[in-house]
Amino acid sequence: MCALALLGGSKAKSKPFPVWPYYDEREEKALKEVLESRIWWRTPGTKTLEFERAFAAFHGARHGIAVTNGTAALEVAMAGLGITAGDEVILPNFTFVATASAVLFANALPVLVDVDPETYCINPDLVEAAITPRTKAIIAVHMGGHPADLDRLKEIASSKGLALVEDSSHAHASEWRGQRIGTFGVAGTFSFQASKLITAGEGGMIISNDDKFEVQARSVHDCGRMPGQWFYSHYIYGSNYRLSEWQGAVLNVQLGRLDEQTKRRHENARVLDRLLSEIPGITPQKLDERCTRNGQYAYIFHVNKKKFAKISTERFIAAMNAEGIPNQASYPPLHELDIFKSGEYRKRLSGKQAKQKHGFLKKKFPATQKAAWETVWIPQPVLLGDEEDMREIAAGLAKIQKNAKELA
Ligand SMILES: Cc1ncc(COP(=O)(O)O)c(C=O)c1O
Repeated sequence: MCALALLGGSKAKSKPFPVWPYYDEREEKALKEVLESRIWWRTPGTKTLEFERAFAAFHGARHGIAVTNGTAALEVAMAGLGITAGDEVILPNFTFVATASAVLFANALPVLVDVDPETYCINPDLVEAAITPRTKAIIAVHMGGHPADLDRLKEIASSKGLALVEDSSHAHASEWRGQRIGTFGVAGTFSFQASKLITAGEGGMIISNDDKFEVQARSVHDCGRMPGQWFYSHYIYGSNYRLSEWQGAVLNVQLGRLDEQTKRRHENARVLDRLLSEIPGITPQKLDERCTRNGQYAYIFHVNKKKFAKISTERFIAAMNAEGIPNQASYPPLHELDIFKSGEYRKRLSGKQAKQKHGFLKKKFPATQKAAWETVWIPQPVLLGDEEDMREIAAGLAKIQKNAKELA
């Protein structure tokens, strides 16, 4: 019998990983408080307000605006910046669709550029090359929790007069040179969807140290109202993106665990870096030395198929799952999504921009292709385990490498 679990051998990993989402009596108490207060919505409530303040302060920001999800956070950020028809926003081709769809929602053009082949975050050289007179903003995505090159991006944004937005949906509590991410540009956006580093099932946040932006964005998220004004005064175009009190209550409790959990995820990921680097054909996502803490939404590694008997990524993942190691899917390149391939995205644009050629869609994006199709992602709850868990993961992957020919 082969040693591989997929072919009938025993599993490398038998002890279960920590469950996610984690909760205890503190979430139960907070929810009960909301229930009994009968104040279940944000406007007169205190829980979401408290969470906004605490989450913003945790990330070194003066302002926090809680919204319904991470997609909404990006949409509100675009509206708060005044991004509109005819504008261009530069973002990585390798990300979840929301980073681009929020730009289309603002009727602007998302200009896709390739990522760094080692960190899988937006490549600043390509950002610089993609700037045109229509460019208004850059959205950086901190992929898997690893910050994009914030030194370069900040410098490019300020020298060219562009807004920098950090899509930090993967990067709660990540640090760059000892400073938590989210305030290197005008705005940082976060997601609290179920797989994220703190969660209420759904939820989102925008943080900022820019007072003008904050007033605009807060108004957009609350039907165009202005704080302190009569309830039925609506000054600008907005919508209802408010987060409920239930979610604010749960997230406030979850935030209390974030620092300790981030420390554990970061340290376990470094154990995996060491162990997996010894396996031929496996290369962990690079940890830039300026990343002083990685929130680790996922543990990402590249698999060189030549060292794995040329098996497909799907076959590798099947073998890994059989060993008891979970995975989560990587993202396909945005330019390969139907919305871009079919031209459907043009329906959001107008004037010349809707008709002209968008040459970037014809580019090859080699680093995005590598990140999309050749990396494997281990989800974050695994990193809340102990060192023995990490050793068992490494042993399972080493076993797959040694016996890869049997999978071919
Ligand atoms: C990079 C990135 N941006 C934005 C989002 C959107 O967040 P949500 O699912 O909360 O709308 C996600 C969600 O997975 C994401 O991964």
